[in-house]
Amino acid sequence: MKINNETIIKDDDTLIREKSSDVTLPLSKEDKDTLLALLKYVDDSTIKEIAEKEDLRPAVGIAAIQIGVKKKMIAVIIKNSEGKKIYEYALVNPKIISNSVEEAYLGSGEGCLSVKGEHEGYVYRSRRIKVKAYDLLEDKEVIIKASDYLAIVLQHEIDHFKGILFYDHINKKDPFYIKKDAFRID
Ligand code: NI
Repeated sequence: MKINNETIIKDDDTLIREKSSDVTLPLSKEDKDTLLALLKYVDDSTIKEIAEKEDLRPAVGIAAIQIGVKKKMIAVIIKNSEGKKIYEYALVNPKIISNSVEEAYLGSGEGCLSVKGEHEGYVYRSRRIKVKAYDLLEDKEVIIKASDYLAIVLQHEIDHFKGILFYDHINKKDPFYIKKDAFRID
């Protein structure tokens, strides 16, 4: 399965707005291969030589719908500045089971592999969440307690299951409206 900038579905395709379905466990070979391919995309996308050669846009996460598979699966890899993995997940049926009232947002705004145009503005999300999922990398059900950047990334990816894109959350009249008490992440 080849995943690159060309094969990733963009927001001019109505498929990106469709809903994803629960995945049956244990994973079929096909679902497992799809999820591992998504994980490999995210990993390779931040390795400069591979990304350039294979036309990969750098990403920290991707959802299966972005390659046209309407199933609740996401891959997330967050690396530090030296390229070492801090977080790595290959999640099936991730579900947010609790979230903080306190919100957070990325000071530089969000981006998405499926979004073509410029959409500037702040996206407010819960600062802390708990996610329940099956993690392929651990081969078991996990509860992830996420905060700040990881929490934002997981909420962004899980939004894709409902066909929601990050810019749907941006205040149309005042994109850089500052919400009092929201935590800014830079
Ligand atoms: Ni996205």
